[in-house]
Amino acid sequence: MFITFEGIDCCGKSTQAKMLVERIQESGRTVLMLREPGNTRLSEHIREILLNKEYTEMNPRTELLLFAASRAQLVDQVILPALESDQVVVCDRFFDSTVAYQGYGRQLPLEDIIHINRIATQDLVPDMTFFIDISPEQALERCNERLADERDRMEESGIRFYERVIDGYMRLAQEERGRYYVIDGNQPIDDIHHTIWRLVLEKLADEPRNSNTSNEYEEAMAEIE
Ligand code: TMP
Repeated sequence: MFITFEGIDCCGKSTQAKMLVERIQESGRTVLMLREPGNTRLSEHIREILLNKEYTEMNPRTELLLFAASRAQLVDQVILPALESDQVVVCDRFFDSTVAYQGYGRQLPLEDIIHINRIATQDLVPDMTFFIDISPEQALERCNERLADERDRMEESGIRFYERVIDGYMRLAQEERGRYYVIDGNQPIDDIHHTIWRLVLEKLADEPRNSNTSNEYEEAMAEIE
């Protein structure tokens, strides 16, 4: 099972990814928590370059290829082996971020992005993607609560950029209804978590070898009600 979290900066997705990972661990499953870009020696170096505010000269194509390079290494070195050994993998961002940020945000041609994503992922597609939806104004307000020198290169992109990124995510959610779940990011943190956990249990219960998940599903529903 491969689960990804998406959304604009400061939308709360990292908090939700961590809460889900803890819940999966408590249920006795082996789970790996990852974030993009990062999580391999090479990918962490690439992350430093990508987010470093000093590189104001970075052009959108360089940015695209660096995100893809980081992903190619992570998929090959970590994600595919973990999925092959039956672990649940939860990743804070994956290729949808590239479609939304570099495709819609930076306005690079989508067909190029799709092709580069396929090279980087070896055609791996998440089973479930949670898009945490908040407005760009709210996101920027939350990001701005951090001191200016703590914000990274991407977080300096401005409101028009984030509007385009959200538009990109919404289009993805329309096109990929089978795996996309749009979650209202304005709800209390615990409510969002319960919704996500219920959806994950529903999905796990669909898998033939997880038939005992239905008890957990009942318990999750009781907790929510
Ligand atoms: P983070 O703040 O969620 O750790 O993500 C780092 C930044 O990188 C964030 O602003 C989103 C951006 N990003 C892209 O622009 N394209 C991508 O493919 C990925 C994975 C992240």
